[in-house]
Amino acid sequence: MHRSRRQVRRKRQQNNRNFKKWGFILFSIFIVLVLLVIAAIKIESSPSEPKADQLIEQTYPNLKKTMTSTSDEPTTYFSPENEVIKNAVAKIISQHQEADTVYYLTSKDNRNISVNTIYSVSKNSQNLTTDSKIVAQFNSTKDNTKILKLSDLIQDDEKSQAAFRLALTKHIFESNAITSEQFISLKDQIQSIPLDISDFSLNQSQLELRLPNNIASITTITIDIGMINYLLNPNYQILVKQPVQTQKKVIALTFDDGPRAGSTDSILNTLNQFDVKATFFMLGQNAQHYPSLVNKVKENGHAIGSHSFNHPMLTKLTTDDLNKQVSQTDQAIYEAAHIYPTLFRPPYGARNQTVDQAIFKPLIEWNIDSEDWKKPGVSTLLKTIQQNVRSGSILLMHDIHQTTADALPTIINYLKNAGYEFVTIDQLYQHKLYPMTNYYSQHDTR
Ligand code: NI
Repeated sequence: MHRSRRQVRRKRQQNNRNFKKWGFILFSIFIVLVLLVIAAIKIESSPSEPKADQLIEQTYPNLKKTMTSTSDEPTTYFSPENEVIKNAVAKIISQHQEADTVYYLTSKDNRNISVNTIYSVSKNSQNLTTDSKIVAQFNSTKDNTKILKLSDLIQDDEKSQAAFRLALTKHIFESNAITSEQFISLKDQIQSIPLDISDFSLNQSQLELRLPNNIASITTITIDIGMINYLLNPNYQILVKQPVQTQKKVIALTFDDGPRAGSTDSILNTLNQFDVKATFFMLGQNAQHYPSLVNKVKENGHAIGSHSFNHPMLTKLTTDDLNKQVSQTDQAIYEAAHIYPTLFRPPYGARNQTVDQAIFKPLIEWNIDSEDWKKPGVSTLLKTIQQNVRSGSILLMHDIHQTTADALPTIINYLKNAGYEFVTIDQLYQHKLYPMTNYYSQHDTR
């Protein structure tokens, strides 16, 4: 009896222990399940924040999210306190909205301009720096009261704007390989690019333009600020150290009507020998005939300008024919030496307002006519120059006459001994030239 009671008690104790043990196991399973369910609910109710969003918030704490959206719609971040900026951004974003994309804006001051850049990045991006793409850039005044257009940047006069288009044309042609088929239409398109575009950026060294309609598959143009600095409004010009004014006497030697085999070679040799740079105003038909000579003139470091295609009296031509004279010559020089000529010398110096407008380049005249075409002999030629030369002169000669080539060492020797320094036309005017303007000498511009 005692035994069996003990046995019963033992059994009871054992049952008790079993019960506790199983209870504990079940309870543990229950707790684990509860935790799993909580975790699952948590994951379900708050999907993990897209990486890009968090990165933008960390990197640009001042930007505010302005469009909260469902998961596949775009999200936009920008500082909304300024209405002008806000509207500009909204307008640009509305043309770009892509799914699963985050847009954000950064602004930084650059001289008197606030540069605003809109970036896009995939919502799942983990690296803003490598994954972000520039959607658009626009500039505003530093006080953000106005969005700047290209036309605000450039001085508000016809000649500055024409000079800007010319610089743009030169830059596009010389930094691309333009085919004969593209030549004329590209030139026309560049000259009619609207200056009211706002998609550009300006830094210390470059102006970068993004074109609204790409021309000849060119979408972005990056132009050296040095080429156009003088055309910008003073507010936006970069500070350039003014060259120290010296008392040096300067003269620009110019050679017309070439190139021609023999005489042009001979002139190039003499110029090389004396280390003198000059400017050659070429006829398109001769450039076409002697492309290697055009290239040689360029390779020797001389400047090349246009002198029309076949030397007509321009004042007697129709606008159509004027345009042909200019374009065909531009194309011949470009195809020979990959240069887009920006200087023009009208044959016989004959011009009027219609001619100036059609040429659309600075018109380079002269103030000393050597009359070398009369083949006057070295001493008479030298006398003409001696009697007329003064600092800042433009001397007219022709590289199609062997007599001129033969007299050149004497002429250069005389000018060197008289203290003259030889400059190209661009250098004579410190690279600040305007279309529809006539240049007779450094101090005679009309
Ligand atoms: Ni001529």
